[in-house]
Order: sequence, then C-alpha cells, then structure tokens
Amino acid sequence: MAFNFANQLITWHAEHGRTGMPWQNTRDPYAIWVSEIMLQQTQVSAVSERYQRFLKRFPTLKSLAKAPIDDVMALWSGLGYYSRARNLHRCAQIIMVEYGGEFPRTREALESLPGIGRSTAGAIAAFAYEERSPILDANVKRVLSRFHGIEGDLQDQKTIKELWLKAEAQLPSVTAKMPTYTQALMDFGATWCTPRQPKCLEAHAQCPMTRHCTAYKTKRVNEIPAKKKKSASPSFQTSIFLIQCGEFILLERRAPKAIWGGLYSLIELPWEAQSKDITLMTVRNARKILSKTLLGDKALEIDYKQIMSVQTGSVIQHIFSHRRLQMYPYLVSLNKKWHVSDPSLMWVKRKDLAEIGLPQPIRIFLESSSR
Ligand code: ADE
Repeated sequence: MAFNFANQLITWHAEHGRTGMPWQNTRDPYAIWVSEIMLQQTQVSAVSERYQRFLKRFPTLKSLAKAPIDDVMALWSGLGYYSRARNLHRCAQIIMVEYGGEFPRTREALESLPGIGRSTAGAIAAFAYEERSPILDANVKRVLSRFHGIEGDLQDQKTIKELWLKAEAQLPSVTAKMPTYTQALMDFGATWCTPRQPKCLEAHAQCPMTRHCTAYKTKRVNEIPAKKKKSASPSFQTSIFLIQCGEFILLERRAPKAIWGGLYSLIELPWEAQSKDITLMTVRNARKILSKTLLGDKALEIDYKQIMSVQTGSVIQHIFSHRRLQMYPYLVSLNKKWHVSDPSLMWVKRKDLAEIGLPQPIRIFLESSSR
C-alpha cells in the first residue's frame, strides 16, 4: 500500500501517543481553546495542574468574560507570556458580545480573535469541529522540515509558506480523523522527532517515518531544521523597592503594555535614577532617590520621617526568551503606611500574596524576604 503520512502517524499514535492529559477527550471549544493558549510556549508538565485550576475557577466562557482581570492574571501567575492571559480575557468578552456567547465555529473566524494565530486556530477547529485545518507550531515545523528535507531558515516567510503548504497537503482526507491526527502530530514532534537525540537516531530505531523521511535518508537529521543564529541576549537593569510596613507590602500594578503587564509587582524605577554604588544606600540616599522619582508621577504621599531603615538585597536575575533582567532590590521599612491614592497602587498583607498575580521572580523574592 502507498505510504500515507496521516495514517502512519495515526497508527503510531495508537501505540505511542500521550494519554491522560486533562484537556483530552473533550469537544468543548472553550476548554480546548484555554488548553491551546496555555500550551503555547509552555511545556505540558507545567500546564496540567494549572489548566485544571483555571477551568475549575472559570468553567465557562461566560464565567471568564465576567471575571475581574486581576483574578485571571492571578491564575496565570508563573506561567509567563502574560499577554496570553490578557488576550484570553479580552477574547472571552468579544465572544460574549459579538458572537452572542457562542464560540466561533470555523478556523477563519477563530483566527480573527486576539491571541489566536493560524496554528492555534487550526488546532481548535480540528479538535472541536473536526475541521480539516492544519497546524504549524514549532514542533510541527521541525517534523515537516525533516520529513521533506526543507533546509531554509524557519524564521523566513518563504520557508514558513512552504511548510504550510505541506501541512495542508498531508491532512487526512476523512474529517473524523482530524482530532487524532492533530494530537498525533503534536505528540510525535514533542516526544519522538525531538530537536536533540530524536528516536530515529537511537539504536534499533522504531520511527515509522524513516523510509520516507528525507532528512533521515540523507543523514541530515541533525542539520535540519537549520539552527537558529544565536545573538547575545541584551540585558537591562532596574531598581525595585520592597516598601513594607509590618505585615503590609506596597504593590503596583504594571502597565498593560510593559513586561509582566497587568500583574502586580514591587515599585520599579529605572536603574539610572539612583546611586551607582548600591552598598552606599542609606536612609538619606533613599529619601533623595524616592523623592526624585516616586513623588509626583505615582500619587504617593511620601512622608520620609516614616522610613525606619533601608537595606539593599542581592541582585535578582531573570532570563526572558530574548532578554536578561537584573533587578536591584531596596528594602524600605516604614513605621506607618504611606497613604496611596493612585488606583494602581495597593497595600497587601503578606499572607494574601498567594491570591495576587505576581511575576514569578518577585514572588520568590518576597517569599525569601519574609524569612
Ligand atoms: N501543545 C499544544 N497543544 C497541545 C496539545 N493539545 N497536547 C499536547 N501538547 C500541545
């Protein structure tokens, strides 16, 4: 019988596909959508429990649309790429208003919504509606570029266009096979056709594709896809202020477009704004810095007499996908809480921090600073 990519993959999946993932065995487009957004750029192992928590708190599209954005951000805290959570919330509201609460039923309509790209729209349409719509995430790009021996840079539009054509051409002809096929393709890329040490290069390789895989047949599995050219990731610095009064900590909600937009964090100031030698941070220096920068734009009524002590903490490093951040912490202890009138500022008790959407490195820092 002639080789058929889709059928071969489906047969492979019956034996080797991943099972027991909490988003499987549903046709509910809402639940599928949430899982696909969470799984973008995030490993299955990091998502499983968080996904279940999210669906428990927001079991329906309506419940998500009605929720305060702070609650959504709190549930997303630690998963990273926070624009996903903001888009999820916005998207739920759009579907409620513009689609009467009915999830759009085609890939095309799905793709017009915020945060849903072509591949995610394809996955949702395939899983929920058995639509013959292809996917092309990073794993699938690798599988197809190896199978077809496509050597171009995966960032190039020309290569991407070629891969979409292949993805489309290889779909099963029977629509009922779409959910299994789509899951099989994801699983194959994630577990067998991996970036390093793919199964086909192991002794007694079992990969069902080898006889038809161009990269395998021409011994180029390690060369395809072309390696990304690595550029040194730029780093930037900020100062962060842990302003505390007894059990209370002063938090500031970050601007929507900023890194960690919509999450709460410590008050952050540009690094240039203060003394180069952080070891010389004294109450007097702190007052100077705080008065120069905090007063005015943050509507914070600062009474410097209430500062009891200022200490510096060890630098906190955080690595983003293409940037590195160093945060220099200052611990400012007050004997009376400053009055806050800006709605983006709030005093929070330490014991309530678990309920708040905080960037992960800030959460870890706050936990360590209480010991
Ligand atoms: N990555 C993206 N979508 C996925 C899914 N449905 N299952 C496993 N990994 C995925």
